[in-house]
Amino acid sequence: MNFDKIDKRARKIMRENDRGLYTVPTKGLYPYQWNWDSAFAAWGFSTYDVRRAWSELETLFTGQWDNGMVPHIVFHKQSIGYFPGPDVWGVPRVPHTSGITQPPIAATMARAVYEADKHYGRIHMELMYGRLVSWHRWFVKYRLHDGMVAITHPWESGRDNAVDWDDAMANVDGSGVGEYTRRDTSHVDPSMRPKKEDYDRYLAMVQFGRDTGWNEVEIARNGPFRVADVGMTLLFLRACRDLLHIAVELDHEVEEIEGWIAMLKRGVENHWNAERGHYDSIDLRTGKFTNSLSSASFLVWFAGIRDDRMLPHLDRIMTEVAFGVPSNDPSDPHFNPLRYWRGPSWGMMNSLIGIGLAETGHIVHAEKLRKNTQKLIAEHGFYEYFSPVDGAPAGGNHFTWTAAIWLTWASPHAKGRF
Ligand code: GLC
Repeated sequence: MNFDKIDKRARKIMRENDRGLYTVPTKGLYPYQWNWDSAFAAWGFSTYDVRRAWSELETLFTGQWDNGMVPHIVFHKQSIGYFPGPDVWGVPRVPHTSGITQPPIAATMARAVYEADKHYGRIHMELMYGRLVSWHRWFVKYRLHDGMVAITHPWESGRDNAVDWDDAMANVDGSGVGEYTRRDTSHVDPSMRPKKEDYDRYLAMVQFGRDTGWNEVEIARNGPFRVADVGMTLLFLRACRDLLHIAVELDHEVEEIEGWIAMLKRGVENHWNAERGHYDSIDLRTGKFTNSLSSASFLVWFAGIRDDRMLPHLDRIMTEVAFGVPSNDPSDPHFNPLRYWRGPSWGMMNSLIGIGLAETGHIVHAEKLRKNTQKLIAEHGFYEYFSPVDGAPAGGNHFTWTAAIWLTWASPHAKGRF
């Protein structure tokens, strides 16, 4: 295997998707700037172009709302090939944005960029710091329930059609959304995307938020969907720890952030589904666990929690598939190896799970996962996601975050940690 060539190919993909000051996840399917995709892109750029890494994050924050929220999409320019576009979200600001957020990993990736640019990066980090704090404050103010992070739309989780949301989605009425034309299914095979009935409900949730004028209090009170997402809680806890680290470096007050970390640690305990013996999401409208063991539960180590109770699950699942970590437990009746977040393995999730494993001392597991992902990408390409059964590539090709995590973590030449 010529890994130098694959490294070069990864940088070429980053270049192809680079729009100058921001990166698209992949051209065609996703023509705008996505929140956590960009954070991964910044991490990728940090391996060979720190200036470009900073600009990626800085451009993302041009979409930040006055209340601190950083939207899941920033629509920098018009593109006809995407639905739902700015007109559907109805957010009266420029640049146009969506009305919901995404996993807040920007602080984590900003720290990684800063580590790669210690000499000249301080001014960038200082300018970024206040914006990160206000985004985190927004989460704490509007989204924390017993220390767990609530999402108001499955798209906020970054795991759009995961089994975790099935029960909560069943309570959303999608019958009145009217006519619309999806664009995603004209770019990739519809069997690899969410179904029409899911899409109707996604749009019903967007319309609800828009009709409230994106009023978080009203959405919390009466919104059709509210789930405490285990992935969000774990990633937010990690991001708060990284923000704390940055605060110390920059000589800022740390009490507020320490308070958030304490709350989130308690929240992680609330995510423990004792009956099934794993971390799990909770439908806040019914108070019920979602009873799904997805790859998000394995982010526990990345959140800095030393908890070996998840290891046997990981060991079992990794023997059931050729390429982990599948986004859904292969033993689950809803497991589907090619449908998006209902089974496929995602390289970017693996990078976070793998780094978490290594940081908490599970070196053998960490290295195994890294090698497994290395083989997956080297043999099958820089796809959006892959079948865990045989590694068959799926979704979009030439994907930014798959290239980024290759350069930072999966390649034999990568640092493999933060
Ligand atoms: C899909 C993914 C989401 C990602 C976006 C752009 O919606 O589920 O996590 O951010 O595509 O790649």
